Amino acid sequence: MSTTNPPPPPPKLKTRILTIPPSSPLGSWSSPNSLQTWTLPPTPLIPASLTLAATALTTSTASSFSTPVAFPTETVYGLGADATSSTAVKGIYTAKGRPSDNPLIVHVSDLSMLSTLSTIPEIYHELISKFWPGPLTILLPVPTSGQLLAPEVTAGLTTFGARMPDSPLARALIQLVGKPLAAPSANASTRPSPTKAVHVLEDLEGKIELILDGGDCAVGVESTVVDGLCNPPVVLRPGGVGIEEIRQVKGWEGVVKGYKDRSEVGEGHKPRAPGMKYKHYSPRARVVLFEGHKPVNVGKELEGGGQKKVGVIRTGEWEGLVGETEGRIESEEGGFAVRQGSLRDEEGKELATVLDVDLGQDVKGVAHGLFAALRELDRLGADIIFVEGVSDGDDIAAAVMNRLRKAASEIRP
Ligand code: TXA
Ligand code: MG
Repeated sequence: MSTTNPPPPPPKLKTRILTIPPSSPLGSWSSPNSLQTWTLPPTPLIPASLTLAATALTTSTASSFSTPVAFPTETVYGLGADATSSTAVKGIYTAKGRPSDNPLIVHVSDLSMLSTLSTIPEIYHELISKFWPGPLTILLPVPTSGQLLAPEVTAGLTTFGARMPDSPLARALIQLVGKPLAAPSANASTRPSPTKAVHVLEDLEGKIELILDGGDCAVGVESTVVDGLCNPPVVLRPGGVGIEEIRQVKGWEGVVKGYKDRSEVGEGHKPRAPGMKYKHYSPRARVVLFEGHKPVNVGKELEGGGQKKVGVIRTGEWEGLVGETEGRIESEEGGFAVRQGSLRDEEGKELATVLDVDLGQDVKGVAHGLFAALRELDRLGADIIFVEGVSDGDDIAAAVMNRLRKAASEIRP
């Protein structure tokens, strides 16, 4: 009987975080009010870490084994590789453990780079001038001949997603590589997207070599994905640009939502039963989402559950369970604090430890801190996390609720 040996596991890599200081020169637009050309600073002024990352992205494509580089964008950290190289792009799927039928977004530094990949239909012109560079991904046709993108980027589709990030660091990296970068969010599949360099390290240590650290991502949720190649145009994923803003643009007045995401506890919908979902954006702790802004009775929720540590994420109406003076674990620099306290019954007996996060009432602030809060509560050992949902709206609230509904094991009114 003959046996075939399984392929050897990929080598465990040493993962390094390289910091790019906030004041580093990263380039400028060649002419103001035009997104045509992003011009890099003179070579000696370019931060050495950035050059190192660009070299890694360029040279790794020549070998048969290739590892992507994580870099910050204004939405979330991305895991980038040369979008024109199959070897490089395959490295992304390997590092992330991502199914290869899910296409990747192609990031460009400027319009002149995008013009090497496709022509931009008229429907997108005003959208681009309004929202680029920024958290908006547009679907473009893959040209029938002279196609430069590796087939692994598009997962066999006739369209590809393109985005020009607002982060000058991201655009400088892409320009330095001189190639568009395919980049999904730099989390391990099923985990919350990373908004800090350490989040990438948590998920991908040993699987990639370099993480560029450009600080916290400003937006905190991924880009809005739109398809203007069909009529009416469609929003495929809510994100950093609000649907209400897109609707203001000529040709986009009738834009429809092409993602399944309505309140699951409204009329005719029973609360989602526990354990019946495919996980996405999920911390290890079980997430219970409350959509209705009604106060939650944590003590009652925990009855018989045996959970020892309870995370609570508040976004406006819920009252704090932990006094201001009790243990403060994280400083407010990261956008939020985690306060630790005890939940007690009427006799004063401790029922559970509470880790309390207030993300504030401003929905942009909630988006900014959401993934970081889920990850931080995981890190601190929460067994269960109760989250107060935000009101559904056509602004960034749509993205917040979309991600929360996917992360939750259970949804309550
Ligand atoms: O903000 C973002 O978009 C981040 C940063 C790193 O730029 N990237 C990101 O990539 O979120 P990823 O791979 O996690 O999500 C890409 C989304 C997926 O929902 C994918 O299905 C969709 O875009 N997508 C990409 N190309 C597509 C295509 N040709 N047709 C339909 N959907 C597409
Ligand atoms: Mg993702």
